[in-house]
Amino acid sequence: MHKISLDRTDITFDCANDDTVLRAALRAGIGMSYSCNVGSCGNCRFELIEGEVTHARQDAPAWTQKDRDRNRWLGCQAVPGRNCVVKFRPDPAAVPKVRPAQRRAELVRKTALNHDITEFTFRMDGDPAFLPGQYALTTLPGCDGPRVYSMSNLGEAGEWQFQIRRVPNGAATTILFDQMQPGDVAQMDGPYGLAYLRADAPRDIVLIAGGSGLSPIASLARGALRDTTRNIAIYFGGRGPADTTAAAFLAGLDPARVTLTMAISDSAQAEGWTGRQGFVHEVAIADLGADLQKREIYFAGPAAMAQAIAGAMHGLSVPRDQIHFDEFY
Ligand code: FES
Repeated sequence: MHKISLDRTDITFDCANDDTVLRAALRAGIGMSYSCNVGSCGNCRFELIEGEVTHARQDAPAWTQKDRDRNRWLGCQAVPGRNCVVKFRPDPAAVPKVRPAQRRAELVRKTALNHDITEFTFRMDGDPAFLPGQYALTTLPGCDGPRVYSMSNLGEAGEWQFQIRRVPNGAATTILFDQMQPGDVAQMDGPYGLAYLRADAPRDIVLIAGGSGLSPIASLARGALRDTTRNIAIYFGGRGPADTTAAAFLAGLDPARVTLTMAISDSAQAEGWTGRQGFVHEVAIADLGADLQKREIYFAGPAAMAQAIAGAMHGLSVPRDQIHFDEFY
C-alpha cells in the first residue's frame, strides 16, 4: 500500500500496490477527472512531484512525448512504486456517487441478441450498485488487462448485465463468447463513468447509439423509466438490418414513453428495409434539430460517431452540461 498526497493540499489517499492513481483516488471519494479509464482520452493527466510510478499500459495513446518531458502521467495507467506527491486539480463533477471497488463476478448466463451481440449476466459479490449508463473494467480469465464494458440493466438482484458486441479476432470477446461458461468467474472493477443518468434534469431524454453502444443506452432507458417521468427518444443504428435487431427490445420497455427509431447506414443492405437510412446521429439531428437544445442527450458507440455527435451538438448550441458521453477514444 502506498500513500498518495495531492500537492499543496491536505488531501491524501491510499493506493494498493497493483492499483492506479485514478482508481485509488475514486475509491477514496476524490474527484479526479477521467473518462475512458484505458489510456485513450488524456483527461486523467497529472504531474508527478515526488515519488515513482510506472504505466500499466506503456503504449497508452494519450501519453505524449511532451507528457514524458514534463513528468506528466495518466492517472488511469500510473501504478505507484512508492509513496508519491502528485498534482492535479480536483474535479467536483468527477466525485463518484458510487465508489468503485473490485469484485468477483460469476457468469450466470449468456443470451444472444443477434448475430454479433450477446447479453452476459454476471452475479456480483456483495450486491453492488451503479448508476444507469456506467461501466465496469472487466478482467477475464486468460486475458491481458481489463476491458471496458457498460452495464445494460439496473443491477437488480446483484446481477450486472452487459450487451457486448463480438470483435472479430478480439482476444476478450473470443473468451467471452466462445470459452466462458456459466459458473466461470471474472473480476469486475467499478462502477466508473460520468455519462450516467441525470434523473433530476427537467428535460426529455434523447439516447443515441450505434453497435457497441447498445448496452449503456439500454441501462439509461431503463433507469429513466424507473427514476423520471420524462419521455425518451432512442435512436439506434447499424450498417444493415441484421445489426439493428439486437435493439428491438427497447421499443417494448414502455411504448407510452419510449420511441425507438432504427437507422441503417449501408444502402447496399437497404432492400426490404422500412426504417430510416443514414448514420444514426444524422437521422436524430434531422428529426430533432434545434429542439435538441431542450433535451438531455446521451450517446455511445464508435469513436467516429461519438465525435461527430459531439461536434454537431456544439454546432446546434446544445449546452455542454446537457450532453453526456464517455470518451473511449
Ligand atoms: Fe485516463 Fe482516459 S486516459 S481516463
